Amino acid sequence: MRVFKRPLTAAVASQLLSLLVIVSAVYFLGGVSLALWQLLLIQGALAALISRPFGMANWWLVLHLLLPLAIWLALSWQLSAWVYFTAFVIMLLIFWNSAGERVPLYLSNQTTWQALSDLLPEQQPFRFVDLGSGLAGTLNYLAQHHPQGEFVGVESAPLPMWLARYRCGQQRNITLLQHDMWKLDLSQFDVVYCFLSPEPMPKIYVKARKEMRPGSLLISNSFTVKGFEPDEVLELDDRRRTRLYLWRI
Ligand SMILES: C[S@@+](CC[C@H](N)C(=O)[O-])C[C@H]1O[C@@H](n2cnc3c(N)ncnc32)[C@H](O)[C@@H]1O
Repeated sequence: MRVFKRPLTAAVASQLLSLLVIVSAVYFLGGVSLALWQLLLIQGALAALISRPFGMANWWLVLHLLLPLAIWLALSWQLSAWVYFTAFVIMLLIFWNSAGERVPLYLSNQTTWQALSDLLPEQQPFRFVDLGSGLAGTLNYLAQHHPQGEFVGVESAPLPMWLARYRCGQQRNITLLQHDMWKLDLSQFDVVYCFLSPEPMPKIYVKARKEMRPGSLLISNSFTVKGFEPDEVLELDDRRRTRLYLWRI
């Protein structure tokens, strides 16, 4: 059920509803013999439950559970307002559009880098793009192993992009763009790779089908597209049994 368009609105609504239930329960029971931290944990757990029908991703459950307790702890430490402000700015620079796009920052692992490397041509030149390139670990690895390839990373969040630029500064076959991936023309690439979330995948698939050239390859790490069977699925031998979904255009 998608009652709220934005996950942040759904999160605030879940916490407020949960707070209302807890306050009402305490009021009607005439008090409870629980410590404040226990009540706050119950409020978090209830908010996590309430958020389920709002269609929030699983990782929100942990956030919901711990949020009231974390706010209370932070307030009781009486830290300077600058600490909160700095933490907020850092989070904003990292998770720039996580709430809107429903794509947080998490990184492809080394097993995935190796599997992607095996899919790329060994001799001929080619162009590869990582949509939402994060810290550019994937690009850096692939660019070192395929010097004849050209690698492009598109990332909208400023802090990951600065770190990626620092990391890949020496790698001449990598271009990093701080850019919205939706504005990038995919017809220039032989291989398009993404590790995003279930939310944008249908739109990515439509964009790829419209723009990518025949013979090119779309690879999605972990997230498939309902109703559009991939041509191949690779299950990797890592702890999370990563799946790579491959569509040949
Ligand atoms: C899960 S991370 C993947 C990082 C990297 N591709 C990897 O595999 O290690 C997804 C990244 O996509 C970025 N992102 C989300 N929406 C985006 C958009 N519209 N344009 C560019 N980057 C975006 C996020 O900021 C995040 O860094």
